[in-house]
Amino acid sequence: MTDINEIRASVLSRIKPTEAEKARLAALSESIILKINTIAEEEGISANAQLVGSSARGTWISGEHDLDIFIMFPPDVERKELEEKGLYIARKVAQDAQGFEERYAEHPYIHAIFDGFEVDLVPAFSVERASEIKSAVDRTPFHNIYVASMIKGLEDEVLLLKQFMKGTGVYGSELKTHGFSGYLVELLVVQYGSFMKVLEASCDWKPGITIDIEKHGSAPHKEPMVVVDPTDPARNVAAALSLDNMCTFIDRACAFLEAPDETYFSANVPEPLSDEEFWNLLAARRTSLIAVELETPDVVEDVLFPQLHKLESSVNEMFERNDFCVYNSSVWASDEKAIVLFELETSRLPLVKKHGGPFVWSKEHALAFKDKYKDSEKFSNVFIRDGKYMVEIPRKYAEAKNLIESQIMNCSLGKHLAISIKKCFNVMENEEILAFKDEEFRKFLGRFFEK
Ligand code: UTP
Ligand code: MN
Ligand code: MN
Repeated sequence: MTDINEIRASVLSRIKPTEAEKARLAALSESIILKINTIAEEEGISANAQLVGSSARGTWISGEHDLDIFIMFPPDVERKELEEKGLYIARKVAQDAQGFEERYAEHPYIHAIFDGFEVDLVPAFSVERASEIKSAVDRTPFHNIYVASMIKGLEDEVLLLKQFMKGTGVYGSELKTHGFSGYLVELLVVQYGSFMKVLEASCDWKPGITIDIEKHGSAPHKEPMVVVDPTDPARNVAAALSLDNMCTFIDRACAFLEAPDETYFSANVPEPLSDEEFWNLLAARRTSLIAVELETPDVVEDVLFPQLHKLESSVNEMFERNDFCVYNSSVWASDEKAIVLFELETSRLPLVKKHGGPFVWSKEHALAFKDKYKDSEKFSNVFIRDGKYMVEIPRKYAEAKNLIESQIMNCSLGKHLAISIKKCFNVMENEEILAFKDEEFRKFLGRFFEK
C-alpha cells in the first residue's frame, strides 16, 4: 500500500479508540474523580481531581490505557502537606485497584491498575499561571487547556504522528528514551497543521530549529530542538529530545515521503539473539564483549536510566584511561536485573606498557625518574626516545574484566546503583554472557549489534 490516504485510513482503523473504548475510559475516569473528590470532602481536604494528558484531549492511542488524574491543591499549601494529603487520598482510592505502587520521580505519585487501565494519581498545585509552578507537574493542567483549545479537528493528525514516532522508536520523553513527548507531538501538529505537514517540515530541520507558536519565548536554550511552551515562555517542551532521536525522525520522515509505506507505523520487534548467532557475530567482528550485571534497584525508570548511563560513561572513561578502546556500549534493564554492556576492540592488552618520563635535560625530574625505576620490576632498562626517558613496565590491568572487578566502586555511581553494586555485581565476558538467558535481553543484544 503506497497511497497516503489508504495508509492513513488503515493505520487509524488500528489506533483510533472506538466509541465503546472511549465510553469505558470516560466512565472509569469519572468514577475515580468522584472517589477522590468524595474522600477529600469527607476528610476536609481542599483538593479536587482532574483528568489531564492525552486521555483528556482525545489524543490517546487505542489499547493504551493510560489515565493521568491530577489531585489539585491550592498553591498556598505547603509542599509537605500536599505530598502527605495527596498520597493519603491516592492510596485510599487505590485500595479498590487491582494493584498499585508509590513512585518517586521529582515528585511522589501513585501508579495503579484499575480495570486494566494504568492510572497515575498525581498530587499537584493549582497555580495561577504556568510560569508560577511550584513543581514540574503543575504545568500539565495548563497544557490541557491550551491543547484543548487548539486541537479540535486535528486529533487524527496527532494519533498518526504519535504512531509514526512509536513505529520509528522516537516516541516518549522518558529518560530511557529521550524522544518526543505527547505534548510535543500535539504542538508540532498545531504549528504545522497536519501529520503530513510535520513530516514535510522536518526535512528542513537542523539542530537549533526553534518553534514558538505564541511568539513569546523568553529564555535561551541549547538543546537541538526548541519548542517554546505556549503556556510558559521560559520552557522548552523539547528539552528531553536527543539529537539522535531528532535526526532519526528527520531521516524516517523524509524516507517515508519518498516512498510511503504502512510499515513505518509498526515498531519492528527484534528476534532474541541465539547462542549461535552470538558466537558468529563475535567471531566475525573480532571484538570482545564485557557485561556488568547487577540487581535493579526499586526506583522508577526516570531515576534508574540516568544512573545506568552514568555508570556506562564512567566505566567507558575508566576503560580509555587504561588503554582499552571502547567500540560501543549500551544499557538494559528488567525489573530484576540491569546490565551495562561494552564492546571493546580487545579485552586483553599486552602485559607490557610503555611508560613515558621527563626530558633528559630536566635535571632533577630526570634524576628522580631514573631513581624510581632503578630497582622496580620492569621489562626494560630506562631508555631514551625523542629526548625523553622511557621505561617498559608491567601493565596494572591487562584484562578488562579484572579492571572492572577491582575498580568499579571507584567509578562515579548514582545513589541507588552504588548501593546495588556494593551488595553484589557480576562481570561476564564473551561466552559467559550467554548464561544470562532473559529473552528481552537477547532482543536487546540483537539490537546492540544491528544498531
Ligand atoms: P504522559 O506521559 O502520560 O503523556 O503525560 P500524554 O500526553 O498523556 O501522552 P500519551 O498518549 O500518554 O503517551 C501526561 C501529561 O504530563 C505532561 C504533559 O502535559 C502530558 O500531557 N508532561 C509529561 C510533560 O509536560 N512533560 C513530560 O515530559 C511528560
Ligand atoms: Mn498519558
Ligand atoms: Mn501517564
